[in-house]
Amino acid sequence: MMEPKVPTREEALELLHKYNESDSLRKHAYAVEGVMRYIARKRHQDEDKWGIIGLIHDLDYEKFPDQHCAKTKEILEEHGWPQEYIRAAISHGWGICSDVEPQIELEKVLYAIDELTGLVVTTALVRPSKSVLDVQMKSVKNKWKDKRFAAGVDRSIIEKGAAMLGVGMDELIEDTIKGMQEVAEAIGLKGNPA
Ligand SMILES: [Fe+2]
Ligand SMILES: [Fe+2]
Repeated sequence: MMEPKVPTREEALELLHKYNESDSLRKHAYAVEGVMRYIARKRHQDEDKWGIIGLIHDLDYEKFPDQHCAKTKEILEEHGWPQEYIRAAISHGWGICSDVEPQIELEKVLYAIDELTGLVVTTALVRPSKSVLDVQMKSVKNKWKDKRFAAGVDRSIIEKGAAMLGVGMDELIEDTIKGMQEVAEAIGLKGNPA
């Protein structure tokens, strides 16, 4: 049997656009990709692999919200994606929509930062500049404590992810902000810097 071909970013992007028409879901995918790339680089890991998995982790969510994770597995298998990529993508939904527990570094990082990107987005949007470029770690931490702020962001998942990784919250938040700053334009959070 032939080894499955390693997907390129272009192929991942094509799938993302095919299955996600919503602007906010696409932006979420770019945000998670940006953070995965940033942290992969920092940890001397395969940046493209980490980024691609970030890009497609919620692939099925728009069209199959009730079968989240399961459909992503199905779609990626149909496209001949390697199991390693599929496993990593669906492990972000561990305990929610999949029973695949994050095991390797890449999976734990994805699990930890997925929800956190949402908190950073909301923190950026309440700033006058509406820019992620001037979001500080401290302001995200303050918003963290206010449970009514971005109430949909499940803080307990982020905490579980950080614990799995053995990384402190400050570092995780800092890395997430930096990764998102690198893709500020793509995620619509560049604001209008003076
Ligand atoms: Fe998800
Ligand atoms: Fe997500």
